[in-house]
Amino acid sequence: PLKVVIIGGGSSYTPEIIEGFILRHHSFPVDEVVLVDIEDGKEKLEVVGQLAQRMIDKSNVKITLRWTLDRKEALRGADFVSTQIRVGGLEARALDERIPLKHGFIGQETNGAGGMFKAFRTIPVLLELADEMTELCPNAWLINFTNPAGIVTEALLKHSKHQKVIGVCNIPFNMRNSVAEILHAPVEHVSIEFIGLNHFIFGRQVLVNGVDRTADVLAALRQGNDYSPANIVGLGWSESFLNSIKMLPNPYHQYYFQTRDVLAKDLQAYEENGTRAEVVQEVERRLFEQYRDVSLDVKPKELEQRGGAYYSDAACNLMDSLYNDRGDIQTVNTLNQGTIRDLPEDAVIEVNAVITKAGPRPLSIGSLPLHLRGLITNLKTFEQLTIQAAISGKYEDAYLAALMNPLIQDEKRIDALLEELFRAHHLYLPQF
Ligand code: G6P
Ligand code: MN
Repeated sequence: PLKVVIIGGGSSYTPEIIEGFILRHHSFPVDEVVLVDIEDGKEKLEVVGQLAQRMIDKSNVKITLRWTLDRKEALRGADFVSTQIRVGGLEARALDERIPLKHGFIGQETNGAGGMFKAFRTIPVLLELADEMTELCPNAWLINFTNPAGIVTEALLKHSKHQKVIGVCNIPFNMRNSVAEILHAPVEHVSIEFIGLNHFIFGRQVLVNGVDRTADVLAALRQGNDYSPANIVGLGWSESFLNSIKMLPNPYHQYYFQTRDVLAKDLQAYEENGTRAEVVQEVERRLFEQYRDVSLDVKPKELEQRGGAYYSDAACNLMDSLYNDRGDIQTVNTLNQGTIRDLPEDAVIEVNAVITKAGPRPLSIGSLPLHLRGLITNLKTFEQLTIQAAISGKYEDAYLAALMNPLIQDEKRIDALLEELFRAHHLYLPQF
């Protein structure tokens, strides 16, 4: 029997992935789905579990669903384990966003100081999960959605015995869909060569049926077309930026290339509506109100207000190709191993890869274009220092990571920033 375990199953996103399993049941015939959560998430798990059950009942596909707080029991015999956890919940995210802003830095859950602390909280928890998998389901694939997805995936591949780990993000998936829309082409005909790191990828070349359409997409971006997810402001790009860089930026690049404007915008948004975490708390409250309604038996439309909308398509396509040994191309977070010559062999990159049952095989990229080499190697260094600090628990390591992050880096202001973040998150940072 084909068994999938979802860690963080009480998440408001779960109806997405359940819908994904239902829609793909003909090619990815899941027999058993187990939703796992922790004591604190017990109530949400119950509500989401019952909604998922109603969705399955309505669909007429045969999937056995259960939900439990007993992770070890759930893992036994799993074929796929997907992780969508948020250590410390949205309260912790709000702190990651608010504290850096207060100190004059970008406050974001996956970039800058916020992303660094999210990694500190998450890495130990997922390493423990990976250890349990080695014992209970050594052949299962771990599909990691937990942010910062690239860093977390690299930490797992470096520090855990379990090596069947792939990181996934919806950004490349959504970019491809948006590009298809912009070009009025069926998405199956569109391919984009993605290069870089999670939340720092560029689309280098857009092909539609083998014809290079990169310039047309750049022209559309120049006219204000954009593909920002719900969680990021889309400020647009200047002509000179697009003309010079000649690649498709992703929405997160605004944090690096428009730092002052984004900071101003985020501060303003914070004063008006609170941080994104607080907006999301409100979206969640409304979602759960609907989930509790026993007449609801489909994924509600409002889930599209989450930045992670459609993540389940990326997740399910990946599981489907691993299971069916498809050999198609998907964009994943996986080991570099020479794909990008400028980065270490053991670095995790976000890249197009051929997906077979043996795992992802990245398509070769070669050297990075000169104008991207600096920032990408810089950010990878930051990521590696972050992983080092998450494992060692040493303040000096955390300081070095902050120092090497282009969104922090301001030497004399780091201590005060870190001090407040460490104090705010101490309950979730036993290693420090
Ligand atoms: C994007 C990113 C995800 C992130 C999400 C946040 O889609 O790719 O990694 O989790 O946005 O969305 P939210 O609704 O939680 O702000
Ligand atoms: Mn992402």
